[in-house]
Amino acid sequence: VPKEERQEQVVLARQLESSANVQLHGATVTSLTLNGCDRLFLSEKAVFNNKKAIRGGIPVIFPQFGPWDLGAQHGFARTTPWVLTDKQTDPKKEVLCTFELEDDLETRSIWNHKFKVKYTVALKKKNAVFDFSVTNTGLAKLEFTCLLHTYFRVDDIANVSITGLNGLEYVDKIRGGATFTEDRDLVTVGENYDRVYQQTPNKHEIRNTIDGATIILEKNNFPDTVVWNPWAEKAKQMSDFGDDEYTKMICVEAGHVSTPVTLQPEQTFFASQSIAVK
Ligand code: BG6
Repeated sequence: VPKEERQEQVVLARQLESSANVQLHGATVTSLTLNGCDRLFLSEKAVFNNKKAIRGGIPVIFPQFGPWDLGAQHGFARTTPWVLTDKQTDPKKEVLCTFELEDDLETRSIWNHKFKVKYTVALKKKNAVFDFSVTNTGLAKLEFTCLLHTYFRVDDIANVSITGLNGLEYVDKIRGGATFTEDRDLVTVGENYDRVYQQTPNKHEIRNTIDGATIILEKNNFPDTVVWNPWAEKAKQMSDFGDDEYTKMICVEAGHVSTPVTLQPEQTFFASQSIAVK
């Protein structure tokens, strides 16, 4: 059985132009074909067992980015089955699917809050759009962080660069969480790299990805951009990531992570990202 068929997934296609696979497990997008080529990195060692987070694609991080006292790193959204609530397949109208995640006994046993998360993956004519929202369905204040952990596929990390980060402050998780200021117009990655750039602009170009293409990543209401690559040594320690795969990927992650989102009862937080190819 091909590994992607071991888990339930939704397949979206917009004629021959674009397509996407989204797993019910974590609402994780595991492939996104735009202009004839899959733009997402998925590890050859990714585990599809409806338990583990999927190594690659776009895991949804909620309600906690990073380590957490209450549960596993990066929260439970990426390891929980979501419910498919809408699917549209008519390219003349919309090609999209919507997933929802609500609190239940299991989520409340980890994090005792009431919430409803909605996530829509839409294939448009020229881009893919990812709409994310969280509603506070409880009676108390809700605080969380969230992020779309996008793994982009690249030919060779040595040639990849990212725009839109010059002059910004970042927290370097490799250097003990200290804060620095970026001074490069084009950010390149040549080592174990784990930085949370703050107050980033709504648009980044990621140059020289797969097929030499430039990815246009646009985002709304996600003030932070995380850039991550484990590099050689850390790759060897990850059971679900090939030793040499770090040369074939870069994570550029749109999120609201430096400060939490705070919602009063009945309030909703909306954020989104768009991926296009230039
Ligand atoms: C990144 C974090 O977003 O995700 C890194 O900044 C982390 O610190 C990486 O190592 C991968 O996390 P995980 O839990 O999927 O191995």
